[in-house]
Amino acid sequence: MDDASITRAASLTGTLQLPADKAICHRAALLSAISDGTTRIAPWSTAEDCRRTVEVLRGLGVPMIETREGLEVTGVGVSGLRAPTEPLDCGESGTTMRLSCGLLAGQSFTSRLTCGESLRHRPMRRVIEPLSRMGARIEAISPVMNEMEPEDYPPLDITGSRLTGIAYTLPVASAQVKSAILLAGLYADRPTTVIEPLSTRDHTERLLQKLGVHIIHEGTSITLHPPTGKLPGVGHLTVPGDPSSAAFFVVAAASLPGSRLVICDVGLNPTRTAFLEVLRRMGAAIEVEVHDQAWEPRGTITVSASPLRGTTIAAGEAPALIDELPILMVAACVAEGQTRFEGVGELRVKETDRVHSMITGLKAMGANLLASPDGSLVVQGGRPLHHATVESFGDHRTAMSLSVAGLLAEGQTRVRGVECVAKSLGNFFELLASIVGSSIVNVS
Ligand code: S3P
Repeated sequence: MDDASITRAASLTGTLQLPADKAICHRAALLSAISDGTTRIAPWSTAEDCRRTVEVLRGLGVPMIETREGLEVTGVGVSGLRAPTEPLDCGESGTTMRLSCGLLAGQSFTSRLTCGESLRHRPMRRVIEPLSRMGARIEAISPVMNEMEPEDYPPLDITGSRLTGIAYTLPVASAQVKSAILLAGLYADRPTTVIEPLSTRDHTERLLQKLGVHIIHEGTSITLHPPTGKLPGVGHLTVPGDPSSAAFFVVAAASLPGSRLVICDVGLNPTRTAFLEVLRRMGAAIEVEVHDQAWEPRGTITVSASPLRGTTIAAGEAPALIDELPILMVAACVAEGQTRFEGVGELRVKETDRVHSMITGLKAMGANLLASPDGSLVVQGGRPLHHATVESFGDHRTAMSLSVAGLLAEGQTRVRGVECVAKSLGNFFELLASIVGSSIVNVS
């Protein structure tokens, strides 16, 4: 197990270029796989999660070559996937598993999706329910773990079939579930409509449209018309840097007095940048320049330190901030006054219970946080943080958030079990050291 030792930093300065967006890369691989022709996805994500999506697609007979520039996918066409000869291992990637469910629901064969230990505890009924209504048969192999709240857990056996288009209102705002239904909708006999309670990242819709699929947005509903022919390949997909990875560095720069950080060529899709709005509301000095409004907007984020103050993050904002909530909790600890996070319940079913992991770590560092049974979390900010030994709980976003907290804390903070950062950002500590100085960050 690797631990990170982080010392309080004076300030940080520099320019960062982050690895390619994980969420976009999953979708780019999946959709290129069923399109016609070769697609070059560049740059390709360095995240372990995306490697899992590649392995699953290889298991389905899709030729994929990782080159120095990116990933080259030889599409097999909408009907070209082959029955896997072995279980398809999604590792710890919930996105791989849930999106693959959607793709496999429409195939003429049975596949088994397996996974690692943490994903075995993540709820799958949310995808099984709509995909079963469309006509797929999906069986969860694991027993129901809590009789009061029946759930389905992986591994999953998926027997695909010719599907029926449905209109489905998502019970939880989830881009993974929305995407699974839309991917299944490609194999349906009629249009499929997904109604979102609150909007979530729209990368799947954007890419489907780029591939020529007819998608209609009406208010909160998205309707996909199944293609009548091939999905023409797009040749080349250029992926911007990951804004969710950027969030850790943005909060570090906003909080450390005297800092100034530029993050280049980062994704600025409006369904991913809500964390910048929250930080601005808290008083952060952030400038955003969009350079390219192409299929996925991209540009530069410049952030300078300034005093932060508390805010309220309403439940309606949470889905658009879902991956940034842990690092925003760190910002809330250094902000003057109270910050209220409403509707954070979904954080409890991520790689770990992130409400618990963040409260445990930040409290050990002297912060004042309290979770209420109504699903909200209140942080009384402005108390000085001090060093402690804290746990990642095997969760990449907890590990990176607590490491940033370590930069802001007196003394030397130890974050235990930081190898999990590879799930999304394997070079997190190198990037951090490049802007705060190598004496501040040590991983061993
Ligand atoms: C993701 C959606 C979110 C997010 C996850 C990636 C995606 O999950 O937390 O890291 O790529 O669609 P949910 O759909 O469960 O909210």
